[in-house]
Amino acid sequence: MQIIKLNATDSTNAYLKQLLPDNALEDFAVVVAEEQLKGRGQMGTKWISDSGKNLTFSVLKKGESQGVVNQFALNMCTSLAIYEALHTLGIPNLSVKWPNDILSANSKICGILIENILLGSKIKTSIIGIGLNVNQTSFHNLPDVSSLRLEMGVTFDLDEVLKLIIEKLRKYFTKEFLSHTTELTSKYEKIMFRIDKPSTFKDKEGTYFMGFIKGVSPSGKLIVMLEDQLLQEYDLKEIQLMY
Ligand code: BTN
Repeated sequence: MQIIKLNATDSTNAYLKQLLPDNALEDFAVVVAEEQLKGRGQMGTKWISDSGKNLTFSVLKKGESQGVVNQFALNMCTSLAIYEALHTLGIPNLSVKWPNDILSANSKICGILIENILLGSKIKTSIIGIGLNVNQTSFHNLPDVSSLRLEMGVTFDLDEVLKLIIEKLRKYFTKEFLSHTTELTSKYEKIMFRIDKPSTFKDKEGTYFMGFIKGVSPSGKLIVMLEDQLLQEYDLKEIQLMY
């Protein structure tokens, strides 16, 4: 495994992106940092993680000539790989909260930020950024956050957990999985948080409404069944799952 270990950097995603032009990196090359000074989260948020206690890393995935329309397949593969790795470690009550937060019961233990570099209508390269709470036990009043140690009561070896996740990413990021989107989607939907359960959502106007998560569309939108069995699709900016 080609791995670059850093004491500190702004963001492993940004660091990896900056290395791309010299082309010396292998597929699945990893940049891992003990500390990120400007860790990035979904939708412009920050990713905050205590130094040396958790995994903050980015993985380079060279494109398998899949089209931009298939971008969500990358999210599903990553979620499935991490879900499987954490399942192997015995973490209880795992699920994937759309689009790709990994939860144990109701608490987030892992966040994923995928940045794609496009060439025309194809994905040339993907940078898969993963923040996994491993040995941190206090989260400064952040609600609904947990770690592997909080769930299992033991300290984990960061290198071993990283190795396991990379193995699972290699398993899912094959041309075969990426192109069989129907199979991939059905695997992903099986592990979705609150699938088929009555749930409360908030729309972008701040209005609360009830619905049932039914799955994801081919473009990765969340499909929610509203009153009168009406199926509605939402993207990330349009909906928030409250409980
Ligand atoms: C989220 O908002 O849930 C996504 C968080 C992703 C955090 C990871 S940590 C490693 C990589 N580098 C970053 O700056 N962000 C991602």
